[in-house]
Amino acid sequence: MISFPPPSRLKKSTTTVKPNLHQIRSDFPILSQKVYGKDIVYFDNAATTQKPKQVIEAILNFYSNTNSNIHRGVHYLSEKSTEAYENARKTVQAYIGAKHLHEIVFTAGTTAGINAVAFSFGERFVKADDEILITHMEHHANIVPWQMLAERKGAKLKVAPINQNGELILDELEKLFTPKTKILAISQVSNSLGTVNPIKEIIQIAHDKGIPVLVDGAQAIQHGKVDVQDLNADFYVFSGHKIYGPTGIGVLYGKEKWLEQMPPYQGGGDMIKHVTFEKTTYNELPFKFEAGTINYVGAVGLDAAIEYVESIGLEFIESYEKELLTYATEKLLRIDGLRIFGTAKNKIAVTSFLLEGIHQFDVGMVLDKMGIAVRTGTHCTEPIMTFFGIDGTVRPSYAFYNTFEEIDQLAEALVKIKVMFG
Ligand code: ALA
Repeated sequence: MISFPPPSRLKKSTTTVKPNLHQIRSDFPILSQKVYGKDIVYFDNAATTQKPKQVIEAILNFYSNTNSNIHRGVHYLSEKSTEAYENARKTVQAYIGAKHLHEIVFTAGTTAGINAVAFSFGERFVKADDEILITHMEHHANIVPWQMLAERKGAKLKVAPINQNGELILDELEKLFTPKTKILAISQVSNSLGTVNPIKEIIQIAHDKGIPVLVDGAQAIQHGKVDVQDLNADFYVFSGHKIYGPTGIGVLYGKEKWLEQMPPYQGGGDMIKHVTFEKTTYNELPFKFEAGTINYVGAVGLDAAIEYVESIGLEFIESYEKELLTYATEKLLRIDGLRIFGTAKNKIAVTSFLLEGIHQFDVGMVLDKMGIAVRTGTHCTEPIMTFFGIDGTVRPSYAFYNTFEEIDQLAEALVKIKVMFG
């Protein structure tokens, strides 16, 4: 079951109108193309989502009519650009329920956001012999920056274990907190297994011990309602391109009390108040963390993407994707010799699998020739693959524009592949 528990401080929407799938698909120009003469079936949504024309048009329109560098000019276009950029910040604030506008920092994406916190929080709060806690199901982006910090400071990286279903073992996680733990960095949803972690409960456990939590929301933000105040997350990061927006833009949410205390991690224009050769004073939040020309057009595209997702409705997205997951799981498990990796009770619509005796790359390549796009390999989660004793999986990942018929096509293609490979 997909279940992002509804934030307690939000009222449940009473909307009953279901969007029309045909209409939704017609919003995505790329979905109507053919590859190798076949209608494309795009099942690589966990890697990146496709863009609706509302997002593409917002970007085209911005470059055609508004473009100018932000925060840097008194002229008309610069003011319009700045306004659009700052409006995008307001949209993000409302979308994730942040208390303050200045708690929203634009970054290049999830990876950039985690690296920023690992560096900046690490500089301020982590010293030799301290401990940083992560989990076994993290993406490399939520492992390596912490490893780099641990090496730099002489700190220790600890890893909370998972079980055979790909779920965190909460009791074991809890045992790993010590007085030396400085931060827990954890994904809300696993990109390769689909597991949804009980993130609010985990944050509560960490906070009871006085430990702040960074949540990697790269695979969560597009699947259900996220409210950072309700979760009580200290940091929450995500990428625009996974939520139907452009690449190269992302968000770092941080509680004011942390961001205020953290030093900037990049120096340059816009992040300063005054510069002399002797000393530089830094700008206020959030600009202290936004050095250089930020991808402001990306922010405008992200604004349009969030507006689009809200027009479709998160309740619809959650419930429809849950139906897709149930259908895909049942269909795939009917195929002899197919094993799904990631069988958590609470999952998003991802079905990582292997076909017995056939290498994942072969499956992926033949599926491609049949017009079906999936990701194969380790999905930037090598430790998960090592845990299961495999070198990768085939990973179809579904979005609200996918259909049951496309899942039928995938299942039929896999049966053919089994015959082909004898
Ligand atoms: N992190 C992205 C994925 O899971 C790229 O495919």
